Amino acid sequence: MARIAVIGANGSIGGAVVVEAASRGHEVTAVVRDPGRYRGAAAVVERGDVLDPADVARVAAGRDVLVSAVGGGDGPGHLALIEPAARSLVEGLRGLDGPVPRLVVVGGAGSLETAPGVRVWDAPGLPEAILQIMHAHGAALDYYRTVADLRWTVLSPAAEIGPGERTGRYRTGLEQLLADAEGRSRISVPDYAVALVDEIEQPEHIGERFTCCSL
Ligand SMILES: NC(=O)c1ccc[n+]([C@@H]2O[C@H](COP(=O)([O-])OP(=O)(O)OC[C@H]3O[C@@H](n4cnc5c(N)ncnc54)[C@H](OP(=O)(O)O)[C@@H]3O)[C@@H](O)[C@H]2O)c1
Repeated sequence: MARIAVIGANGSIGGAVVVEAASRGHEVTAVVRDPGRYRGAAAVVERGDVLDPADVARVAAGRDVLVSAVGGGDGPGHLALIEPAARSLVEGLRGLDGPVPRLVVVGGAGSLETAPGVRVWDAPGLPEAILQIMHAHGAALDYYRTVADLRWTVLSPAAEIGPGERTGRYRTGLEQLLADAEGRSRISVPDYAVALVDEIEQPEHIGERFTCCSL
């Protein structure tokens, strides 16, 4: 059993991570900006803003794993949140006196490769707002890759992630965008949560980004 705090637990992906982790018997704390609005499955709820390193340190203290599933809504929202959140998470964890939990972060698919040297975000015609979201996650990943003193992991979803069945089956990769048997890069939110909690239980990607896709 791991003690897991999930920042962004009110979100669609964060909420699914809470459900998946709690269903496996982990001790899950939902971290949200307004506990009064929390409607999720976690037994324990704490207030916290990912952009405040003191909040990060407070909610991380005594936990084995800190998950960040925060999102910024639109493109400018992501630019204002995702890379600053990465810096705040790292600063907060570095400020802990006691044991430092692992950090597992929900990332983006934009920086994955579709061919050698070609990334998802290089595709022509992508709307500016989508590019902003992709590059916000790319900047955060670049930052995490400079962090050698923490046990961080970034899990990039497939290109499409949305509501769907929990099959419990998925494939993983590192830098290449993955596709399923029908050639689509997609994963359901519940299966993404399965992949994330599997990584918590059996760490294989400490200090790197990986990705998951349906079969
Ligand atoms: N294919 C892809 O690459 C792909 C696809 C989908 C999503 N994603 C990424 O996955 C992440 C999660 O997506 P989602 O759809 O689950 O997002 P979501 O439903 O919009 O949830 C985001 C959560 O982040 C929380 N949040 C925002 N700012 C915060 C802050 N300063 N402190 C603490 N919490 C904060 C929000 O909390 P409140 O409830 O307080 O507002 C919200 O619950 C995003 O970063 C998104 O870009 C990637």
